[in-house]
Order: sequence, then C-alpha cells, then structure tokens
Amino acid sequence: MLDATEVAKRYARVRARTEALAAPLSAEDAMVQSMPDASPAKWHLAHTTWFFEEFLLRRWQDARWRPLFNSYYEAAGPRHVRAGRGVLSRPGLEEVRAWRAAVDDRVLSMLPRAEPRQLEVALLGTHHEEQHQELLLTDVQHAFWSSELRPAYRDVASRASDSATTPMRWVAFEEAIVGIGHDRAAADRGFAFDNEAQRHRVLVGAFQLASRLVTNAEYDAFVADGGYERPDLWLSDGWTTVQQHGWRAPLYWEADGAAFGLRGLQPRDPNAPVAHVSHYEADAYARWAGARLATEAEWERAASEQRVQGNFIDGDLLATAAAPPDGGGLTQLFGDAWEWTASAYVPYPAFRALDGALGEYNGKFMSGQMVLRGGSCFSPRDHLRATYRNFFPPHARWQMSGIRLARDA
Ligand SMILES: [Fe+2]
Repeated sequence: MLDATEVAKRYARVRARTEALAAPLSAEDAMVQSMPDASPAKWHLAHTTWFFEEFLLRRWQDARWRPLFNSYYEAAGPRHVRAGRGVLSRPGLEEVRAWRAAVDDRVLSMLPRAEPRQLEVALLGTHHEEQHQELLLTDVQHAFWSSELRPAYRDVASRASDSATTPMRWVAFEEAIVGIGHDRAAADRGFAFDNEAQRHRVLVGAFQLASRLVTNAEYDAFVADGGYERPDLWLSDGWTTVQQHGWRAPLYWEADGAAFGLRGLQPRDPNAPVAHVSHYEADAYARWAGARLATEAEWERAASEQRVQGNFIDGDLLATAAAPPDGGGLTQLFGDAWEWTASAYVPYPAFRALDGALGEYNGKFMSGQMVLRGGSCFSPRDHLRATYRNFFPPHARWQMSGIRLARDA
C-alpha cells in the first residue's frame, strides 16, 4: 500500500529537479528539435505535465494542448507528429512553466485523498518524469552539438586531470539458477515498471564480467586499429549502418582528442568510460577485444548483489568519470554510462501490461530494440535498481550508452 505523504514528497522532489535541469536554458534553447528522435526541452517540460493531467487529474488547463504533448498513446487520442515538435512555439516557455506550477498545486492537493490506484499513477508519473529528465539532457546535448558554436549547457569543472587508470579485471561467476526481474506479488517490492515483471528463474552458465566499463583510451585503440574498417567485426546491420552514416568514432568525438558534452567541447579523459556508442559499436568492440556483451540475466545476477552507487546526475559531474579502485569487485555497474547488453527487449514470462491507456507505456515497444542496464551520469540515483530495463534501437547513440565486456568462463 503506497503512502500518500511519501508519494507527495517524491512528486515535489522530482518536479523541482526537472525545473532545475531546464533552468540554464533560454526559451530559444528550449524549442530546438535537432533530430526526430530528440525532443525540445520545452516539450519534455510539457509532456511530463500532460502525463499527470491525462492519467491522474483528468482535468485540463487547456484541452487543445492534449495532442501537442501526447507522445505515443493511441488510446489518449490524436497526436502532433513526433518529428515536428520543434514548431510548437505556443504555448511559450513561461506559459509551460506556469502550467507546471498549476498542475503541481492540483496534484499535491489531491494526493492526500487519492485512492490507491491514483497513488500508483502519481508514482508512475514521477518515474516517467525521471526518464524524461535524462532525455532532456541527452536532447539538449544533441541540440547544442548541432550548432557550430558548440555551446556548453553549463560550466562544470572537469575532473579529468586527476583521473587515474584502474586496470580491468575479470570477475568470475559460477553457473547458477538465478531469479531475474521484479516480483509483482512481493509486499516490500518498491516501484518497478511493468516490463521488469514477472520475476522468473533463469539458468545462467558460468561467465566472467569486466570489473569496470570500457574507457575512452581502450575504445581509441579499437578506432586506431581500424575497427570501423573491418566488416568481420560487425553485425551485418551494424556494418550497413557504419557505411550509411560514415561512422568512424563515437558520436561527439572530435579529431583532436576532444569530445562534445554538456560541459562543451572538452579533452577526452582517457580513463573515463566511452559513451555515445550504439549497440552495433559496443558489439563490434567486444568482438575486437575477444569478448562479448553480457546478457541481461548475467548483468542482473551480478548487479543484484550491489548497492546502487556511482556517478549520477545527483553528483552534477555531467560526464562519465574514471573508475574508482575496485577492491576486487565490480565498479560502475550503476551510473556513468548505460551498458548495452546482448539481450533483445522482449517480454518476460508472464509479462502483463498495465490496464488501460498506460498499457502502452512499455509493452508495445518490445520489438527490434536492445536492453541496456545500469543507468548513467544523467540518471537520478533514486530512479535506478538492479531489475531496471532500459531499451533503445541498436543504432541509437545519442544516449549516454557505453560498454562493459563479458566472456564465457
Ligand atoms: Fe513520456
């Protein structure tokens, strides 16, 4: 049974963080849509607010805005075309901010007398908004990168100069039958999205997992070794994509050892995890390194023994950071960069979508995408857990996505 006070506290905290993340942006910044996959920051501010109006309040500040900020819910009516979100100059940024404040008042005043189902939807809305916080940052990064000015989203001091190399080790796991996923029925279960259930048993053979993420320096060696010129390293679709787009390095890498990020154009930290690679690149790198990517069951087995700690948006570094000394265990499992897995995004046994329009949240995307695990330096810490399944198409690389190696025992 959810506690209304706890949900209200979480609601206020999440909504305030979204405002803080958007604070450095001007109205012009907040309107840019640099590619169809990315949305304007103002749209993220508005869409997360629409979510509460549509699914919780059932009352609209301006019902004409509903199609503008409905993302993909067929059951919630018509939608403005996704690739055309950059034309939505009205409502303006200040109008959207005022709308957010009005919805906050309405939500916070109804929560104390909310029914259990409404508390569940409110809680879902806060986790939904946290997903959009990360998207807001990755979309701003892409928008700013798309201008020759390469502006910084914020000036944050880099810690690259004092980073150190931590050698990668292999951490071994014995064969075991392990429980994977979220148990809907457990009393102390905490929040999880529907795609994390139902918990089920999986036979995971003996395997080894790298102690940390692949670094920029290691990925640089793959590039220098002709990694992008050797078809034998790539999946067929990956090789086609490399040819089509002329990929020669991760997104945002510049020729002179620099990379573009939210802190602007910065020298790459050789010891920090490589980010902004697609599943295709992660897979090709692993093959080049004589290894492979972990399955999501392998990853979750390793992560279920770990605390959720690491480099998150809470630390405000806005970039990946060199691994700390590992002390014999695994580091960077959570935070820094999402880890591409070898697993396709498909339903777990006994998966059940949510009732009603919210059933469209996750289930209808279970085709043609790959699972990522762990979270990133753009994720809020309290958004993450060992069972969390993120997913993107295998060619996507504007997300904060990186690589951890695995291999057979
Ligand atoms: Fe959304």
